[in-house]
Amino acid sequence: MTNLESDMEGLDHKLSQRSELVEVDGIPLLSGAAERWGRISTFNARGDDLLICTYPKAGTTWTQEIVDLIQHGGDPQKCAQVPIYKRMPFLEMHSPLFSRLEEAELMTSPRTLKSHLPVQLLPPSFWEQNCKIIYVARNAKDNAISYFHFQRMNGRMPDPGTWDEYLEKFIAGKLPWGSWFDHVCGWWKAKDSHPILYLFYEDMKEHPALAIRKIAQFLDQELSEPALNRIMQHTEFNSMKVNPMANYSTMPTYNHALSPFMRKGTVGDWKYYFTVAQSEQLDDLCAQLLRGSGLTFRTQL
Ligand code: A3P
Repeated sequence: MTNLESDMEGLDHKLSQRSELVEVDGIPLLSGAAERWGRISTFNARGDDLLICTYPKAGTTWTQEIVDLIQHGGDPQKCAQVPIYKRMPFLEMHSPLFSRLEEAELMTSPRTLKSHLPVQLLPPSFWEQNCKIIYVARNAKDNAISYFHFQRMNGRMPDPGTWDEYLEKFIAGKLPWGSWFDHVCGWWKAKDSHPILYLFYEDMKEHPALAIRKIAQFLDQELSEPALNRIMQHTEFNSMKVNPMANYSTMPTYNHALSPFMRKGTVGDWKYYFTVAQSEQLDDLCAQLLRGSGLTFRTQL
């Protein structure tokens, strides 16, 4: 076997492997991010960067598409040139084939970036540059279910195991990017001292026009009625589900036959998976861990 063949075989092997978790300051991250942590933590944010940050599966892609459309006057054609993950690099995502951080470094300003980092791990330059940040939170039950299905279909994520096992890991903060509770609370607190627009998936679902208007206002962008209507139409779940530039059908390591990336897009899907005991356990934990924070979540509309 030549050196090149052996390298290619090594790469094939790495690409077909599910990633391991490695802790960074006590937070489990995908090993690719942990290995490059030095580069990520010293990333140079620019003053006009916009960051979209979420706990995984809280509605990141939906928000990204809305933001991109607002930034392009509500013209879907201008947002349909490349997949969403190329338009807005995912800061801490590394694979043997790409480094989104390097893609971000090469981008001209103004940039919109994506991250799932908890507040304490965000590279300090974002705070120093006072960058605008949009944070989206989703109720724990739907978030956990969506994440479970995503880890099943994403060949690069750790194997989720059974639903029962998965929920235990979710509760213990042992999933990639750590504890949902700490994540939503940490960013909620941060909004008091930084320009952070904190949105809820459930509100976006209930009143999409209001959410789109809020985002436009936060970005100091004018939004005409026709533009708003186009954005509403284009970012509606069923539109995004069939949009190859938004539905991750171009991502080779995702197995949409196992579970599509654009899966249900609803509030309350958890009811089909949680036992009564599991539901009560999560309700109790939310009551306990969110107490006094001012944060409340709706698990149905
Ligand atoms: P479900 O798995 O519950 O369907 P993220 O982009 O953060 O990975 O989040 C993915 C979740 O957001 C998935 O949830 C997906 O279906 C949902 N989603 C994506 N686009 C949406 C839209 N336009 N409206 C409502 N939900 C959407």
